[in-house]
Amino acid sequence: MDISKSRNISDLQALSKKRLPNPMYHFIEGGADDEISLRRNTSAFDDYLLTPNYLTNVADIETKTTVLGHELSMPLILSPTGATRLFHHEKEIAVARAGAKFGIPYSLSAMATTSIEEIAKKSDGHKIFQIYIMRDRSLTTDFVDRCKAAGYQSLCLTVDTPMAGNRERDLISGMTIPPNFSLKTLMKFALHPHWLMNFALHPKFELSNIIHKSDILGEQGNTGVIDYVNSQFDRAITWDDAEWLAKQWDGPFIIKGLMSAEDAKKARDVGASALMISNHGGRQLDSSPAPIDCVKAIRDAIGNDLELIVDGGVRRGNHIVKAIAAGADACSIGRAYLYGLSAGGQTGVEKCLSIFKTELERTMTLLGTRTIDEIRPEHLTKLNTHSP
Ligand code: FNR
Repeated sequence: MDISKSRNISDLQALSKKRLPNPMYHFIEGGADDEISLRRNTSAFDDYLLTPNYLTNVADIETKTTVLGHELSMPLILSPTGATRLFHHEKEIAVARAGAKFGIPYSLSAMATTSIEEIAKKSDGHKIFQIYIMRDRSLTTDFVDRCKAAGYQSLCLTVDTPMAGNRERDLISGMTIPPNFSLKTLMKFALHPHWLMNFALHPKFELSNIIHKSDILGEQGNTGVIDYVNSQFDRAITWDDAEWLAKQWDGPFIIKGLMSAEDAKKARDVGASALMISNHGGRQLDSSPAPIDCVKAIRDAIGNDLELIVDGGVRRGNHIVKAIAAGADACSIGRAYLYGLSAGGQTGVEKCLSIFKTELERTMTLLGTRTIDEIRPEHLTKLNTHSP
């Protein structure tokens, strides 16, 4: 099957699996520990049913909405994913451009393989920068200054990574960043000569926003930078630090990785304008709840004080509708677009977004809701999955 014939995100996933060397595919796909959260993120959507209203005139479906102070063509955001160069040589630029073409925001990761400035030069879409508060605070403040200078619209602080989650697939596959072409992994790469050629012939892998630190540190290339980054995750950060960062930013400020109503209130109090309800795609704390299951309690606790973005497990247009009916403003996706990217660069990401748009429009039509605002809690029934 080629990209144009992909019927859904699962088809793109199958293509991605075929085109990527096994360590890269499992790096995208894997979750932490027993992958309970990873599986539940998507399967939790099955616990929500949609009840339609008919004879409502759905001749003209409108998926536009306003989130983060900007109009989006549909309530969908491209989540930050690091090390994208591993999956396709068109890397983050392809994802940012596809987002711009579809009128939805793209979040560049602090661990990206394209610089803040290059993305700004090559994409005129809504740009979010995903930041960590690092032990070396000057790295964080440099990021903020560079994003302001480059015209980024929004800043997103990820808070669920005081340390890396335990992703055992990477231990099994021999995945390392940067990739280590050892005897153990050689065969896996040799089976994908097309990927190997592109990896060798196109711009090299580097953590573009941090690489300059290796000069400062006098360390060698990527390995030095990765050791540096790992040493920079600060387990001592608190809400005071989040407030400090929020004060440095003038536009929409998102906190990513929260799941509880209690934390949502704290986020509001330190100056956040939006939350990405997220467990990092099941890659950090295993057994943390599915984001869709957290929406109602958070919305009930904070009213309309914050915009809520459901991040994790979104694979179908009807998942977006369920999230909106539960009280969210938008969803965001990570793996779904990485499947498209690894299957075929920008064309693959665009295919992913067109699948979501088509499925969203179809679900809204069949539900009897012409606009995003017409999607209401009354359309949603949660199955009782906790009965004895
Ligand atoms: C991620 N994610 C992530 N999040 C973040 O804040 N900074 C990062 O650098 C990364 N990097 C990253 C790499 C890869 C390969 C994946 C799959 C994910 C998490 C990401 O932003 C998002 O939260 C999840 O991907 C959402 O779940 P789904 O859509 O993949 O199910």
